[in-house]
Amino acid sequence: MKSSILGLCALLSAALPMTSSYADVITLRFSHVVAPETPKGKGAQLFQQLVAQRLAGQVQVEVLPSGTAFTDANELQALQDGKVDILAPAISKLTELSPKLKLFDLPFLFESRAALDHFQARPSGRQLLQSLEPAGVIGLAYWPNGLKQLSARKPLREPGDAKGLVFRIQNSDVLQSQFEALGATAVRLPFNQTLQALTTGTVNATENTWSNYWSQRLDQQQRYFTESNHGALDYMLIVKADRWRTLPFAVRSTLEEIIDQVTFEVKKQSEAENQRDRARIAAAGGSEIITLTPEQRARWRDTMRPVWQRYEGELGASLLKAAETSN
Ligand code: LMR
Repeated sequence: MKSSILGLCALLSAALPMTSSYADVITLRFSHVVAPETPKGKGAQLFQQLVAQRLAGQVQVEVLPSGTAFTDANELQALQDGKVDILAPAISKLTELSPKLKLFDLPFLFESRAALDHFQARPSGRQLLQSLEPAGVIGLAYWPNGLKQLSARKPLREPGDAKGLVFRIQNSDVLQSQFEALGATAVRLPFNQTLQALTTGTVNATENTWSNYWSQRLDQQQRYFTESNHGALDYMLIVKADRWRTLPFAVRSTLEEIIDQVTFEVKKQSEAENQRDRARIAAAGGSEIITLTPEQRARWRDTMRPVWQRYEGELGASLLKAAETSN
């Protein structure tokens, strides 16, 4: 009996790594709703790889892409319930938890990607990462996807062309106001329901980045794209505060360094990835990409910009000013 137990122990220990037992390894589950070949999908994979290299035997990351585990409809609840450890939702989807984050949805607020990056790196932007704390959530970093474009079944050249259309939007009051300002209707739908809603005609227009359009092949349902660059789709990498704080200090510090490195890479690559997917949509040949003249773009801006006034009170003049100053 004794010898068979010893034999079993020997067998088990041969199967375990030399440095630690499996029970010691912390598993961090990172769920997201987009395809692996997108800025966020690649960021999650790089994070997983760097953790495997630098925290081998201590931490492992499990990436759950494409909404396979959780979708927009339930991922925040899953984080609160401890069923998942890391998320990177579009900031728009966090505005119910932290109304100040509505700032990022204001149309035509930042004049360039560089201006938005600059704002996020400055104190006002850093403070917004902490704005989810009352909900028990910590923002660790901003990850960019890219600038948003418009798409529809009809060409959108002038703001009036959008009148009467039904746009799929993310769950965001500002985005709803933005499309209402055009005389259109907005329907809030989780990302993974967008293709179906366009296919069935529940909605007939939307806004998104080139990488999200291409990875879902939304171009097969949208004949016309308008390169409006009217806003940005950025993510916030978030964790549950108490889960994060109970990680050993040294592990947390290394994870923070890794996140800085991944953020740098996502920033470096995301623009090129979106341009690659724009080219793929153009080459697929089923859709037309409309480029706006400066005068046309100015008319879109003038039509959408009154939306700011509606949110000024909630956001506060100083936050808006800090954002505008980044331009
Ligand atoms: C969307 O819902 O359109 C995006 O937020 C999806 C994503 O995560 O990029």
